[in-house]
Amino acid sequence: MTARFAGRVAIVTGAAAGIGKACMHRLAAEGARVVGVDRNEEKLAAAIAQAPGEMIALPCDVADAGAIDAMVGEVIARCGAIHVLVNNAGIGNPSRVRLHEQPIADWDKVMAVNVRGMFLMQRAIIPHMLAQGGGAIVNMASIGSYRATALSSPYITSKGAALMMTRAAAMDYAKDNIRVNAVCPGTTNTDILAGSSQETIDMLVSRAPQGALVEPEEVAALVAFLASDEAPHITGGSYLIDAGRSAG
Ligand SMILES: NC(=O)c1ccc[n+]([C@@H]2O[C@H](COP(=O)([O-])OP(=O)(O)OC[C@H]3O[C@@H](n4cnc5c(N)ncnc54)[C@H](O)[C@@H]3O)[C@@H](O)[C@H]2O)c1
Repeated sequence: MTARFAGRVAIVTGAAAGIGKACMHRLAAEGARVVGVDRNEEKLAAAIAQAPGEMIALPCDVADAGAIDAMVGEVIARCGAIHVLVNNAGIGNPSRVRLHEQPIADWDKVMAVNVRGMFLMQRAIIPHMLAQGGGAIVNMASIGSYRATALSSPYITSKGAALMMTRAAAMDYAKDNIRVNAVCPGTTNTDILAGSSQETIDMLVSRAPQGALVEPEEVAALVAFLASDEAPHITGGSYLIDAGRSAG
């Protein structure tokens, strides 16, 4: 594997499982010093133990502004810079009901992590990227940023917001050498599917022309490319990896 991230520091949120874990492993394998952030301390420690290269585990809830500021301060104190942010932490729909039936608490929970958390991480890290002269951010959006599914309004709304937050940030920092892109996976083989019935998973898979789940490692490969120096003029973009689902 090449060393596109040698000498770089990367933060990956939601790093204890699924796509975030795969991103953490991929960036480390390519030479980055990776800070894995997750609210699940035990799973994060296990994910880091399996990883190649140099890792730091910092348990943190991305919905908690104070905890994020403290975590980012610690990263700067220990590593001196943050070159890459993979804003991946996210949760699915707590309940499968129609929009007007959504409990307000469920709505707020999804927005707090998927939208506010994505904002808070950028709010805390971008000042350091500005001071050091640049950086690369990859936000984990979704096929749901483009295509709705029934009974999923909080998640779908949050992923629409993730897409537009990416574009807005790309505009804000285009002249500051900070690139901001979104990756939009289709149904991917991770624990987030544990909350869905086999019938729902089969339905989602059958919608993709390739009739397959995306693997987290494929998403990590795309994230690594977008975060690397191989993509100097890719910013404000959104990249689907969805087994063809959005093609037809
Ligand atoms: N799996 C899919 O089909 C799919 C499809 C499109 C987009 N995505 C997106 O990809 C991202 C990762 O999803 P995944 O499938 O790997 O999920 P996952 O459930 O396997 O892993 C998510 C990780 O995020 C962590 N996390 C959740 N809330 C957090 C918080 N408040 N603070 C810190 N960490 C938190 C969890 O502890 C977990 O380790 C999410 O943003 C998700 O919406 C997933």
